[in-house]
Order: sequence, then C-alpha cells, then structure tokens
Amino acid sequence: MSKVADPQKSDLMEKIVSLCKRRGFIFPSSEIYGGLGSAWDYGPLGAELKRNVKSAWWSTVVHQRDDMVGLDASILMHPKTWEASGHVNNFNDVLVDCRRCNSRFRIDHLKDGKCPSCGVKDFTDGRAFNLMFKTHYGAVEDGNVTYLRPETAQGIFVNFKNVLDTTHRKLPFGIAQIGKAFRNEVTAGNFTFRMREFEQMEVEYFTTKDQAADCHQRWIQERLQWYLNLGVRKENLQLRKHADDELAHYAAACTDIEYNFPFGWSELEGIANRTDYDLKQHAQFSGKDLQYQDLTTGEKFYPYVIEPSGGVDRATLAFLVDAYHEEVVKDQTRVVLKFSKQLAPVKVAVLPLLKKNDGIVTLAKRIKNDLQKEFVCVYDDTAAIGKLYRRQDEVGTFYCVTVDVQSLEDGQVTVRDRDTMAQERIAVDRLKGYLREKLAL
Ligand code: GAP
Repeated sequence: MSKVADPQKSDLMEKIVSLCKRRGFIFPSSEIYGGLGSAWDYGPLGAELKRNVKSAWWSTVVHQRDDMVGLDASILMHPKTWEASGHVNNFNDVLVDCRRCNSRFRIDHLKDGKCPSCGVKDFTDGRAFNLMFKTHYGAVEDGNVTYLRPETAQGIFVNFKNVLDTTHRKLPFGIAQIGKAFRNEVTAGNFTFRMREFEQMEVEYFTTKDQAADCHQRWIQERLQWYLNLGVRKENLQLRKHADDELAHYAAACTDIEYNFPFGWSELEGIANRTDYDLKQHAQFSGKDLQYQDLTTGEKFYPYVIEPSGGVDRATLAFLVDAYHEEVVKDQTRVVLKFSKQLAPVKVAVLPLLKKNDGIVTLAKRIKNDLQKEFVCVYDDTAAIGKLYRRQDEVGTFYCVTVDVQSLEDGQVTVRDRDTMAQERIAVDRLKGYLREKLAL
C-alpha cells in the first residue's frame, strides 16, 4: 500500500513549474533569448492538456445544452469597440513609484500604505496605466490605432444581432467563445496565473432583467460543478462575492470561483451580471438597433447579460496543481498527476519490455497503431520498465500496456492502472474494448 506524502505548499509551486518544464507541459516563451516576462509556451503535453480543457468546456457549455451557440470572432476589432465598451477610459491600473527605492507598484497591492520592497511610506502620486496593448493596422504607422482585445466578450456583443438573425434564438440563450486575450499586466508572475497573452473561455448569456438574478445564481452553480466534475477537489474551490467597490465598470454583481493555489486563494473564473450595459453602449456608438424583439408581445428591449468568464490557462494550472500527488511506495517517492479521464493528456502508453526482441517490438507497435485511432497514445522503449511506469505516472497517463515475452505465447498483455498500480492480463484482441470501457466518461 502507498501512503500520501503531503508536499509542502511552499515548494509545491516550484515542483510543478519544474515538472512542467522537464516533461514538456510548459516552457518559458522564447527561452533561448532569456524568456519574455509573463509569456509561456505549452509543450507537447501541455498542448494536449489545454486542448482537453477547452474541449471539456465547449462540450459542457455548448454541445450539451439547448440554449447555447458558439462563436469565433477576430482578435482585432474596430477601435470604437473599445471606446463603447469603456476599456479606453476605464481599463486602468493605478501605479505609484516608491521615492526611496524607485520600485513601482499597483496602488491596490500596497499593504498598510508601505513600500513592499523597502518599507518606507513615500510614494509619487498615482498614475493611471491602461492595460490594453495598442497596435496599428494597415501600412500607416501613425494612424489606424486599435488594440489587441483585452477580453473576448466584446466579439460576442458586436455579433449579437448577427447571431440572433441567423439562428432565430429566443431568450434566454447564450453565445460561447474561446480565444486569446491580451493585457499589459503591470504585476505579473505566479507562472501561468497572470500572463500578458492568455486564453479566455467566455459565455455571454442573454436573458430578461427579471430573470437575471436567478440566472446568475444558476450559472455560478453550474460553473462550480464543471470544475468538480473534472476532478478538482471540493475543498480547493470556493465562491467569493465581489464587494461593491471591486466591481468592474460594467458589472452590477460578480462572484468569483477561486482555487486554493499554492500562492493562496485566487480567481479562476468570474461570473458577472453585466446588465444591459454593453449592448446599449454598442447601440449608442454604432447607431445600430441592437434590441431584442419578443415576437409574441412585439416588445423591444435590451437583454440583460450573465457572463461566466474563465481563463483557459488558469483552469489548466489549477488542474495541474490539483492533480499533483506524491506517494511513498516501497520507500520511494512516486509523483503522479491524477488527472481525470477527460483531461489526461495521454490515455495509454505502450511499453515493450525488451526493445531488442523483434516479436515484442512488432506486436507492441501493432497495438499502438491500433489504439491510437481511438486514444491518445505514446510508445516508449527508452528505459527499464520501472522507470517507464514512473515516467508515465508523472505525466498522468491513465494506462500502461506492457508487451513481454509471454505475450508472444499467450496473446495477452499487462495493463497497469495509474492510480492503483494494479496490473491485469488482458487478451490483445479484447484490449481496445477493455480500454474503451475503462476510459468511457
Ligand atoms: N469578460 C470579463 C473578463 O474578462 P476578467 O475577470 O477580467 O473578466 C476573466 O477575466 C478571466 O480571465 C479570469 O477569471 C481569469 O481566469 C482570466 N484572466 C484574466 N486576466 C488574466 C491574465 N492576465 N492571465 C491569465 N488569465 C487571466
């Protein structure tokens, strides 16, 4: 039997960052040039994991509902979008400089009004710093300014009428989108938690003013349940309602889903009541009628919007942290990423016990070729079997299939379960069906 060794919170983050680099989940961006602050690249396993997070979200939020459709809007939008949305005027952090040590901080990050670097209370006046990345489109450098979108939401609002006219939806209904967003964050850090380029998974759910409060509560519960269904431990999730003075300029109410990261409870996703703010703003700035018309009563009005807005990168990081386990097995530490079936980047590893035995290699390759049509598989023959198992545990591979000399005689292979480490002999011709059953959601 194994017992759980509790990794200290303080070094847990370090271990995860190191595992991510060593095993190809996450690399520093443009590392050969020394990296770029708060930019990260997903390696082969990270790319698989992130894809799984996004498809789990899309499946739950779009495909498994009757009241949702998807959208994929462009990152660059007409610059007026950002005037209308309020981001040009309001999307600011207020910064101060310490006169003693010249360090720069967000004013809302100061504790007791003291400089976190030197402890002195002597700051310059606050200056507003807009978080949007400005860019130019077309060949004229000075004109044609626009921004890299700081949230995907506005792509949904400006397409509200297009979606309505083409899908003939009735309220309540929602539009979902996954895509990149960019913010020139002042204080970055904590690995992929706060990046300057990141991905969002956002829903704008349109409803009536009367239904908005109930609808908000339902989305909070549904979004919380999504993380639980994907295996995040309940004790590591909490809801936090925003105080009035924390609310974004467009929100009447907001509740965050927070995760207990090694660096403290922090926002994974915000579920906001955006009222009819955005549609009204875009109607005013564009001069277009963006109202919804109830065809039975003929009434025209601006719907209210409930917005569950999560970060792909933050969710991926939370899934990684939550999956990280250390266990002591036969006096040795076994590191296992206990991802859920849906999220595990690799489902099956095929391992030939002897890489110089032609019969074993041929059978192992045939098995891998067959399984990879249905499951994400890897083939590894570069170490002894104990080491191969450890390697697969460390990246969360669900099953290891080992082909040995006996397999050539009895047509059976050993299937090892990641979590229990239990091993079973399974006939090769039953293997696919066996794994299909085990890996079914
Ligand atoms: N449309 C609403 C909106 O953008 P937000 O709370 O600013 O709201 C939503 O962002 C989510 O996007 C956050 O809960 C977080 O998961 C993710 N996010 C925001 N800024 C981020 C950053 N700098 N790095 C990584 N993820 C970020």
